[in-house]
Amino acid sequence: MTCPFLQREPDTDATDQSNMRASLHGTADPAAADGRQDNRRRGRKPGSASGDRTSSGAEILAEQHRHLFDCVKPLYDEPLAIASGSGCRVTDYDGRQYLDAFAGILTTSLGHCHPAVVAAIQEQATRVGHLSTLYVNDRQVEAARALAEIAPGDLSRTFFLNSGTEAIETALATARLHTGRSEIIALRQAYHGRTSMAAALTGHAPWRVLPSTVTGITHALSPYPYRAPFGDASDEELVEIYARDLIEVIETTTNGRPAAFIAETIQGVGGYIVPPRGYFQRMAEIIHSYGGLFIADEVQAGFGRTGTHWFGIEHWDVVPDIMVMAKGIAGGMPVGAVTATSEIAGSWRGKTISTFGGNPVCMAAMVATLGVMHAEDVRTRARDRGAQLRRSLDDLGARHPWIGDVRGMGLMQAVELVEDPATKQPAPRLAGMLLNAARDEGLLVGIGGLHGHVIRLGPSLLISNDEMEEVTVKLSRACAAVEAAR
Ligand SMILES: Cc1ncc(COP(=O)(O)O)c(C=O)c1O
Repeated sequence: MTCPFLQREPDTDATDQSNMRASLHGTADPAAADGRQDNRRRGRKPGSASGDRTSSGAEILAEQHRHLFDCVKPLYDEPLAIASGSGCRVTDYDGRQYLDAFAGILTTSLGHCHPAVVAAIQEQATRVGHLSTLYVNDRQVEAARALAEIAPGDLSRTFFLNSGTEAIETALATARLHTGRSEIIALRQAYHGRTSMAAALTGHAPWRVLPSTVTGITHALSPYPYRAPFGDASDEELVEIYARDLIEVIETTTNGRPAAFIAETIQGVGGYIVPPRGYFQRMAEIIHSYGGLFIADEVQAGFGRTGTHWFGIEHWDVVPDIMVMAKGIAGGMPVGAVTATSEIAGSWRGKTISTFGGNPVCMAAMVATLGVMHAEDVRTRARDRGAQLRRSLDDLGARHPWIGDVRGMGLMQAVELVEDPATKQPAPRLAGMLLNAARDEGLLVGIGGLHGHVIRLGPSLLISNDEMEEVTVKLSRACAAVEAAR
């Protein structure tokens, strides 16, 4: 059986894209402007999002099983095949629409197919689509300058890569070259990527599929107030516990001369674990006192996601020595970035290249994304829409005893599910039920936590008041379904 997916033309479902194409190519055809032209070309019924692809979701899945690694594993047991997206909505191959509150793992920061990002990609692709870091291009320089303008402190020099994982590797190598040391302290419950070194930094058994052969990495306690090892404590007491642990880790599991301490400002895959007030100030102080650097992983928390500030670490009023970014940086295009001070960046004197790093099309998408982020004031939007979401999650938490904790910042909000609030036994069973119940309501959310027991939300930073209202109504209905079935 032929799979339409393998033969299809570039996806043009979104009305935004049709409009964009019309304006870019001067098409005056009103059918093109409202999307009808694409549907006609594919033999679709006007207004139908999937038309003749009605049965192709299953076919695509069968093809996926045949041709992709099994470990390329979809989120749902009954996988969701998505044909198109526009703003906060995606449409599956059966024409069903979903409100996307997870944004491709917090990555389509301006929603799907934002017209300005699409236009920038199209324009750059017709100019020059690929160069490698062997050549200089205005888009890469512009992107780096735009980043330097919003990065905290003196972080002004950037290396662009293809993914968060690659940026993590680059940050670690830079720290090692700068300090002349090698040992790194990461956190339990952290997630930093999928290469050998990034997986070795990761503090989650399920994401460390192979036994680590990387040496020189140790893990300190996760700053996880809900599961603090010594029961209830104030922020100050918790910070002191985590500080003492970091000192002990340095003094007992390293040679006392660490190259760096690396941490996500909010542990994303860990289930949006927010460290207590004062935490990063103290951790940075400690690692500096031992001569090491502080690397902030802003892959999930960066670019306005946490509200008010551009980067999560700014909530703690700390300037990291090196910052790692990816995900929402370029509106969905693959960009990883490491930013450091001139002095630290200058420590890398040996040869290195990246074939796709700084790719002009991706850089154009990033410049456009940051432009929209400024114009739309995403920091304020994330703060306000995040507060709206949080009120609703707190309300759900008060109604359902199996919601053990509600936490997050800005548009990075989660609920941790437990079998019993007294024992706090993680409830992956209930999280799976809620994930599916939300899907049934037409709402996409994410999952996280060490046991897969945390439901995570991270929608587009441009989500509207009404769309957020819809998220909360759908989630509330999904919670009611779990309550009835548990
Ligand atoms: C905090 C954090 N760092 C690094 C990574 C790795 O990024 P990528 O998947 O782009 O390699 C991730 C991915 O989820 C992440 O959440």
